[in-house]
Amino acid sequence: MSLSASSSLSVVILAAGKGTRMQSAKPKVLQTLAGKTLLGHVLDTCYQLDVDDTIIVYGFGGDQVKTTIDNQYAHLPITWVAQTEQLGTGHAVKVALDKLPKEGQSLILYGDVPLVSNQTLTSLKSANTDGMSMLTLTVANPFGLGRIKRNSNGHIEAIVEQKDANDDERLIAEINSGIYCVDNALLHKYLPKLSNDNAQQEYYLTDIVKMAVADGVTIAAIEPEHAFEIEGVNNRQQLASLERAWQNKMVADLQVAGVQFADPTRVDIRGSLSAGQDVFVDVNVVFEGDCVLGDNVYIEAGCIIKNAQIGNACHLKPYCVIDRTQVGAGVDIGPFANLRPDTVLADNSKVGNFVEIKKSTIGHGSKVNHLSYIGDATVGTGANIGAGTITCNYDGVNKSQTIIEDNAFIGSNSSLVAPVTIGENATVGAGSVITSDVDANALALGRGRQVQKADFVRPTKK
Ligand code: UD1
Ligand code: CA
Repeated sequence: MSLSASSSLSVVILAAGKGTRMQSAKPKVLQTLAGKTLLGHVLDTCYQLDVDDTIIVYGFGGDQVKTTIDNQYAHLPITWVAQTEQLGTGHAVKVALDKLPKEGQSLILYGDVPLVSNQTLTSLKSANTDGMSMLTLTVANPFGLGRIKRNSNGHIEAIVEQKDANDDERLIAEINSGIYCVDNALLHKYLPKLSNDNAQQEYYLTDIVKMAVADGVTIAAIEPEHAFEIEGVNNRQQLASLERAWQNKMVADLQVAGVQFADPTRVDIRGSLSAGQDVFVDVNVVFEGDCVLGDNVYIEAGCIIKNAQIGNACHLKPYCVIDRTQVGAGVDIGPFANLRPDTVLADNSKVGNFVEIKKSTIGHGSKVNHLSYIGDATVGTGANIGAGTITCNYDGVNKSQTIIEDNAFIGSNSSLVAPVTIGENATVGAGSVITSDVDANALALGRGRQVQKADFVRPTKK
């Protein structure tokens, strides 16, 4: 067989299984690991490999799988092929055969084996020099899996399934992951010839190995870097244990990059996290989406951080929720702050406890320290927003803007009724309801004047 070097790369993802043991109304491949569907993990890895076509063989819950995935992966060339009856892995690839070019190579992956890595697949692809390569692993408990039979020279001869294996074959500890890179020419040649004459009366994809060997093809085998890469999900326990394996790997990579976790088992990264040096992450912190942390960021317990960029030397006190927010350097946040999407906190600003900020910019060095709601607002530099300040941004229909210019001082418990502008260096007296713009350098008071009645006698009980 000749090496099909610069030709096309297709991926066939087998995803027709029902996943009965998940006990779920959701198709198995839509179950999530680290916040992303199992199939999504496989697709993201394919995307990194720059594949020409991704063929998904679907069956159970097909429409739900298609809609969900087509929405999220519009950037990938996906071809959907239905396998109405699950007659075995060989049958599953066979139903996709007329979508595969006659030349080039195909990676065969499983939709419920989510964590195979880009590096492993790249090695698998380069190992395919004679027509077929496969991922295998020697394991402590091979029960249930296909066993790799090798001849006296150590060359792979065949794969034998658990249910078809004799006593000697069952002692083999090298197992078939089910992940292969195969020349399309071999698939076109062998798949139509598969039979289901075996213990399970299934069309076994694994039977192409002995056909290829009979034709003089040498089957290359490589091992994955991590065992979890070839583990599948059949039940909730396996899903949870793969989740942990993945979390452990993410945490280990970040530790190598200089992040300190108070307890590496009590953090969750559901997405991507990149971090500078000397970052500290306390227990029960959850990262979601794509998060970026600068150097010396200090994150206390219980923070939930989603799609956020946090600059150098920021301090997040306990129990902050931060969503789609951009934070400059040296910013203190929390405890108990709620930063909602499209919030920007400039360098050295401060957001204190029980403060909610939405779609607003807080300028350099400005402070919102206690019990406030700031929405649809632009706050300049050096401003002080007193405790309990509320931007009244919503009249029941429209959202309006509040502008607070540089060095303004908003007294505690004020309501700023938007649209409204507080000028540079202006002061708002505590307890004001501000409905008109305040000029620069002015003092605005919008509250009842205090009255005093001398020698007041409180009522007494009769
Ligand atoms: C298969 C391999 C076995 C290997 C094991 C690794 C065969 C015959 N055996 O076992 O050597 O050790 O994987 O997990 O290939 N699927 C379909 N349509 C079908 C059948 C399966 O889409 O008709 C999909 C399933 O959804 C699953 C994958 O293929 O994602 C593997 O199927 P599964 O039944 O788990 O594998 P086995 O055949 O038991
Ligand atoms: Ca199985």
